[in-house]
Amino acid sequence: MDLNNKVALITGASSGIGKAIAQELDSVGMKLVLTARSQDKLEQLAASLKNAKVLAGAITDAQMPYSLLEFALESYGRLDVVINNAGVMTIGAIEEVDIDSIAQMARLNVEAVYRMAYTTLKHFKKVGSGFLINTSSIAGLKTAPTYGAYNGTKHAVEAFTDALRMELAGTGIKVASVAPGTVDTGLYDNWTQENKDYISSGGVLLPEDISRSVRFILEQPDHVLIPRMLVVPTNQPV
Ligand SMILES: NC(=O)c1ccc[n+]([C@@H]2O[C@H](COP(=O)([O-])OP(=O)(O)OC[C@H]3O[C@@H](n4cnc5c(N)ncnc54)[C@H](OP(=O)(O)O)[C@@H]3O)[C@@H](O)[C@H]2O)c1
Repeated sequence: MDLNNKVALITGASSGIGKAIAQELDSVGMKLVLTARSQDKLEQLAASLKNAKVLAGAITDAQMPYSLLEFALESYGRLDVVINNAGVMTIGAIEEVDIDSIAQMARLNVEAVYRMAYTTLKHFKKVGSGFLINTSSIAGLKTAPTYGAYNGTKHAVEAFTDALRMELAGTGIKVASVAPGTVDTGLYDNWTQENKDYISSGGVLLPEDISRSVRFILEQPDHVLIPRMLVVPTNQPV
């Protein structure tokens, strides 16, 4: 796809991977809609980009995907790419895990991803084109003790992406996932030092390593689809 002047909607754009994707897609001339809860951070980011508009809010609000689609169409008259990226990572042993945080993670990492995907794919089907990329994780391809609930959310994203890809074959619409290993972002801000040390024991990627991969997926010619890109630090031990 020639990305120049195309329109992308990015969730979780206020920090980390989503912010880097916004900067990468801006650099190739895309027009952007940025969303997350932190309006200030989004506006600061938008001010540093050539053509970006902000609609802040909780993506777990069931109305939000409709509002974002409408906002993109009102702002730019089209929507070509959706980066379904917002997510959190809550882990813990059975004795210590907070079930409400786990349920909140499931609503964000799974329910909001489904809602965003179905809302925007209905639009893509109407216009006969579009590209959806879901941010999954290496945790969506394997499991680890105490990571089960997060593993479950990202396995759900992988299964959903794969099924959609097949459902949409022949429609002109592409669906893919990007599955990072450990990336140095705010995702681990509330973690214990011990858990941080474990997750980064093989080194860390930079958000730019993922945004470069997303751009690569998007720039493939029409007849090529990279359905999943797994990107890990060279020395990641799992
Ligand atoms: N970092 C890694 O090692 C890694 C590895 C594999 C996969 N991932 C995945 O990458 C994605 C991005 O994470 P990141 O690493 O870039 O972490 P991050 O820096 O913490 O970014 C998370 C983004 O999600 C947004 N967000 C969180 N809760 C939200 C809510 N309820 N409603 C709307 N937006 C919300 C945050 O913005 P606000 O707080 O402003 O709302 C922020 O923009 C996630 O899906 C994560 O699972 C990360």
